Amino acid sequence: MDSNEVNKLLAGLLGTVFVVFSVGIVSDALFASPAPEKPGFAIEAAEPAEGGPAAPAAEAKPIADLLATANVEAGAAVFKKCQACHSGEKGGPNKVGPDLWDIVDRPVAEHEGFAYSAGMKDFSKGGAEKWTYDNLNHFITSPKKFVKGTAMGFAGLPKDEDRANVIAYLRTLSDSPKPLPAPGAAAEAKPAEGAAPAKPAEGAAPAKPAAPAQ
Ligand code: HEC
Repeated sequence: MDSNEVNKLLAGLLGTVFVVFSVGIVSDALFASPAPEKPGFAIEAAEPAEGGPAAPAAEAKPIADLLATANVEAGAAVFKKCQACHSGEKGGPNKVGPDLWDIVDRPVAEHEGFAYSAGMKDFSKGGAEKWTYDNLNHFITSPKKFVKGTAMGFAGLPKDEDRANVIAYLRTLSDSPKPLPAPGAAAEAKPAEGAAPAKPAEGAAPAKPAAPAQ
């Protein structure tokens, strides 16, 4: 190989390298992807409506407040939807669902002669759980979400007003309607009446107070 040939070879190599680099630079320039000004998936917290309370939208209104403005007659109309499956008369028959006479504060899953789903029986905690205004409100909002595995094939009433009205109506299906909850009261988790606080079994030694922390 004389030096001329070596030169040609080197020149060829350099040329190739030059071309490769140039293509790289040009394609970078052509297909440049600058960082987007706004990320495509911005996750923004919903801002509270102007002037409105800063409460998150998911916060449900307490049923006591809803019941304060409820309308029993409007509730009777809403109850027509329930009547596809429920009667509401005293001693009324069980249909697809159990009779709902005196349902407010009635123990869950205890109506005679009705075969409740396993999900509803679980929810009843062996009769300790009652259909409080709160429980009714949550259940009727979305039955399957509130009582997992319930057999109640009803989508629910998403509107506060409808639920309040129908619960106000359900309350009247009784010889002695239960008192309405006091509006404005914080929705405290009150122990259901009759659900006695866990007492130590008779004869069991009283629990010793924990030793004070050193
Ligand atoms: C498609 C039929 C159907 C409709 C419509 C329906 N339910 Fe039910 N409901 C049932 C069934 C079935 C059960 C029993 C659920 C179980 O065992 O899991 C039930 C159970 C209940 C219970 C519990 C009763 C108990 O004894 O523990 C309440 C309260 C209730 N329904 C209220 C309502 C209200 C209020 C409406 C109308 C807004 C309604 N349901 C609409 C079928 C229905």
